[in-house]
Amino acid sequence: MIIRKARKTDAAAMINFLHQIAGETDFLTFGSADDLHVTVEKEEKLFEDYFNRDNGLNLIAEYDGQIAGNLIFSGGTKKRTAHAGEFGISVRKDFWGRGIGKALIARLIEWSKESGVIRKINLRVRSDNARAIHLYKSFGFKEEGVITRDFLINDVFYDSIQMGLFID
Ligand SMILES: CC(C)(COP(=O)(O)OP(=O)(O)OC[C@H]1O[C@@H](n2cnc3c(N)ncnc32)[C@H](O)[C@@H]1OP(=O)(O)O)[C@@H](O)C(=O)NCCC(=O)NCCS
Repeated sequence: MIIRKARKTDAAAMINFLHQIAGETDFLTFGSADDLHVTVEKEEKLFEDYFNRDNGLNLIAEYDGQIAGNLIFSGGTKKRTAHAGEFGISVRKDFWGRGIGKALIARLIEWSKESGVIRKINLRVRSDNARAIHLYKSFGFKEEGVITRDFLINDVFYDSIQMGLFID
């Protein structure tokens, strides 16, 4: 398994990946990749932009030439918020529990420490997503608050937990 930055040439494979994971979990903010309005052109542009950002990172976990996982982190675009950012992570269900999530987050933290810019990593996770919360806590992420009614899925509201990790 290789963890690497996403490249422009990953755009089409990423769209297939997004379609697959959208149908595999209710823990993401999208239940269908159509919600994301992605196109190959938009993804190519995004991947190019992220490749060289000093406070943005788009990582792929590649296994046997396929995208098995993705982590995207984005810091603030203004001077006063550039030091902090939020990430989203997803791993294909057939690869869950094999350390890919752990490897992606470890790389994000390592990159953040080396960036010279990032001082805080934030995330938001559905409060019943035990697997993800376990993973975040194992890296030292702390709970900072609850966002009530953050998700609405099939007429049911779900709360999220706001979590954060200092980079010092
Ligand atoms: C959450 C997610 C990214 C984790 O990726 P992963 O590759 O399966 O994670 P890892 O294999 O690195 O680690 C999983 C950890 O959770 C633990 N775990 C598994 N099921 C668990 C459960 N039900 N409750 C608590 N911990 C659990 C594993 O034991 C492992 O911890 P360990 O290394 O201490 O043993 C992945 O499951 C996923 O994409 N889920 C759907 C989308 C999602 O929830 N994204 C996060 C939104 S905030």
